[in-house]
Amino acid sequence: MKQDEKLARIGQTIEGFYAQKVVSADLIEAILYSVNAGGKRIRPLLLLELLEGLGLELTEAHFQVAAALEMIHTGSLIHDDLPAMDDDDYRRGRLTSHKKFGEAMAILAGDSLFLDSYALIAEAALPSQIKVNLIAELSLAAGTFGMVGGQVLDMQGEGKDISLAELQNIHANKTGKLLTYPFIAAGLIAEVGESQQEKLKVIGQLLGLAFQVRDDILDITANFEDLGKTPQKDVAAEKATYPAIWGLDGAKRFFEKQIEETEHLLAELEAELAFSGAAIRKIIESLKLNDERKSRCSSL
Ligand code: IPE
Ligand code: IPE
Ligand code: MG
Ligand code: MG
Ligand code: MG
Repeated sequence: MKQDEKLARIGQTIEGFYAQKVVSADLIEAILYSVNAGGKRIRPLLLLELLEGLGLELTEAHFQVAAALEMIHTGSLIHDDLPAMDDDDYRRGRLTSHKKFGEAMAILAGDSLFLDSYALIAEAALPSQIKVNLIAELSLAAGTFGMVGGQVLDMQGEGKDISLAELQNIHANKTGKLLTYPFIAAGLIAEVGESQQEKLKVIGQLLGLAFQVRDDILDITANFEDLGKTPQKDVAAEKATYPAIWGLDGAKRFFEKQIEETEHLLAELEAELAFSGAAIRKIIESLKLNDERKSRCSSL
């Protein structure tokens, strides 16, 4: 299936879910405003490309799992932008949710996206045990033991001199775990063996950490037009970032090393398993920093 079609179907799956009996049309308007603002959709795309790479024909159920992941990610961005958190006015090229709809609605839209995603997975036509595992892993990646926990550490790290190990822990949790989820979920759905499941997870972790380092680099080097969000926010907020500890060049070198390692492990997986990593390599290629204009969704 072509990437454009995948992207369209991720959006349709989310919209389809919200076309059910309406409790509050205003809430759904706020949810879809952020969902349809033009994110890169890298997390759901990774899942769908991994499934195809593992030889599966994509079904509605796979799109439901992919959409659930994108919903949690979008909710995390809405909350990340709140005045009590990073206090951002723009996201994905639009006003942030709280700027557009007010703080209470933005908090509730985020809450909805976090909670609704589990129903979407539960409704998918997949074996029950696989769904239980998918739901458990998503909860662990998104909640106290993943993204939310990492966001707390990120907030507490502002203005502090923290060690590299502490910074890595922040990034691995606030961003890394939701980026690792497609790799874990693909392994669960395709029912790969234990050692391949572990390798998939390690690839996700490497890419996930690299992805936040890239975001930190782009915060310094890219402009509003390319980012769709206000640049140079991290220095102003005295955020703990890789460029803050290692400088821009050091951070770029670290990013490149992580990506190289990811590509190496992908090749190993291809040798061990009936797996083609070509589409994943293409996504990784689009993240490379030689052309910073690639930072926006349209070019993925
Ligand atoms: C931004 O994520 C926040 C991070 C976790 C680094 P993305 O760069 O994936 O944002 P969208 O989804 O494309 O807007
Ligand atoms: C985002 O990190 C991590 C999330 C869990 C949303 P950032 O705060 O660096 O993301 P941006 O730069 O606002 O997209
Ligand atoms: Mg943040
Ligand atoms: Mg932020
Ligand atoms: Mg950032």
